[in-house]
Amino acid sequence: MRDAAAVSRRRFLQSVGVSGGAGALFATMGALGLAPAHATAPDFQAPRPSDFHLTGRGAKKVVVLGGGIAGLATAYELGKAGYDCTILEARGVTGGRNFTVRRGTTQTDLDGHTQRAGYSPGVYLNAGPARIAQWMVTLDYCRELGVPIQPFVNANADALIHNEANGAPVRYRTAKADIYGYVSELLAKATDQGALDTRLTPGDKARLLSFLEGFGSIGPAHTYTGGSRRGFTSYPGAGNDEGTPLPGPPGLSDVLASNVGRYFSFEFGYDQAMMMFQPVGGMDRIPAALTEAIGRHRVHLGSEVLTVSNRAHDVTVTYRRGGRTRSITADFCIAALPPHLMARIPHNLGADVTAALGSFPATASGKIGLEYRSRWWETDLRIYGGITETDLDLAHVWYPSHDFHARRGLIVGYYNTGAAARTYGALTPAERTARAVAQGVKIHGEKYRSELTTAFSVAWHRTPYLEGAWTSPPWGSAAYNRLLEPSGRVYFAGDWLSHEVAWQHGAFVSARSVVTALHQRVLS
Ligand code: FAD
Ligand code: ALA
Repeated sequence: MRDAAAVSRRRFLQSVGVSGGAGALFATMGALGLAPAHATAPDFQAPRPSDFHLTGRGAKKVVVLGGGIAGLATAYELGKAGYDCTILEARGVTGGRNFTVRRGTTQTDLDGHTQRAGYSPGVYLNAGPARIAQWMVTLDYCRELGVPIQPFVNANADALIHNEANGAPVRYRTAKADIYGYVSELLAKATDQGALDTRLTPGDKARLLSFLEGFGSIGPAHTYTGGSRRGFTSYPGAGNDEGTPLPGPPGLSDVLASNVGRYFSFEFGYDQAMMMFQPVGGMDRIPAALTEAIGRHRVHLGSEVLTVSNRAHDVTVTYRRGGRTRSITADFCIAALPPHLMARIPHNLGADVTAALGSFPATASGKIGLEYRSRWWETDLRIYGGITETDLDLAHVWYPSHDFHARRGLIVGYYNTGAAARTYGALTPAERTARAVAQGVKIHGEKYRSELTTAFSVAWHRTPYLEGAWTSPPWGSAAYNRLLEPSGRVYFAGDWLSHEVAWQHGAFVSARSVVTALHQRVLS
């Protein structure tokens, strides 16, 4: 019986191999469990109540500092085995950098500017995280928590590229056609002229040329002359209407001088390649679902951690809530605060811990959400989601990936980092809007100003209890490795203790790693 099954399985694989090639064969083997599946994160076994059977031990009391993704995930996973977790979160909402701005959201920054979002119902800005790659463990949490997801359009052939010196913006499809076309022409001609003969066999040359003819649309003549993939001023129509192709292409030198090719590598990144996803209704559906699953009574909002004291048998944390200083004592503590802020909190974990925490620099980033009374980017420009890239200080402009054809919508009018983010962050919210709109008009024209109804901006480096967008960890250093280990009864967690900084995935896997270590310690 087993042999017959094995034979028919082999036959099945052979037939797929014949028709679909080696890739199809390998993928099918994976589906049948014969080749390793695509691992998205190291194996993780959530603690279970049954783990305590026969050990004579039981779930412990844990205080978690910070209700961002790492803190929430820690309490959620430990809670599965009955750990008694309390989260202390300074802000009025869980999620930390996972922050969605919608109608009524109010925030005061470190410079004393208070904004209250006047967005229409259903309109929102994901001010922090906004996209999730398919392989990220974040999607597993969405599935487990029942958070519905939808595609996030991270690349769009009809979005624009705007380099200021070029004047008018160009569509991605046009820019790509020209760069791929000319690069293919150059490489094909070099190949034809024998310039690559020391590297290529005659067979290699034939296969390379065949690839380039298609990739660059250069045909057998190996000369790029444009073509339909650049786009049309009038698309093909009925009867004999072949459409009107865009005029062009510009000459090779002009295309290179336009510097449009600098944006193309983004979509090749293992973390940015399509498909990407977002939770339906806002990224904060993830912390909201985690908070519900943990139990709201375990999450103390408006609770600012003041001190941490580690002792031989327990940990005491003091915090301020409602103007009063309180304390909590637990068996263990998980510090899931931004490292540069944890470094400022008085503790008795040692000067080396403070120094290690201080070695994680905080970066600047900002976003603005511009609500428009019409979706002119869909009706006028036929842009449905995606990103326009610019060399202006607003860097990226995002079109919404949801509610297509709705009446209103929100554009991310800038998403910048570094010096540009500091420039915008130093302005008042009204000044940021004015600057972003003045820049955006250069790309989109006057509608960018006239259709605007309201705006909300976040400068992460000027946001209380975060004071930064993300960090660049000193991976491999003694300081980094020091914080991967507990300091007595205090563990550290956050995206900053992972190799996926600036991704919720990093916060989740860091939390899992701490949960595993703590649970093993309790069981041993
Ligand atoms: P944090 O979210 O920083 O949590 C720390 C928590 O500690 C906060 O809730 C804070 O309020 C709290 N806290 C601080 N001080 C105190 C105190 N004294 N007492 C009590 N509480 C305190 N990720 C993605 O997956 N996709 C994206 O597209 C993406 N884009 C991003 C874009 C931007 C602009 C930013 C800023 C981040 C983005 N990220 C993205 C990264 C993602 O937001 C983070 O990786 C993740 O949210 C980090 O979670 P965390 O729990 O480690 O840290
Ligand atoms: N991971 C963040 C983003 O994709 C920085 O925008």
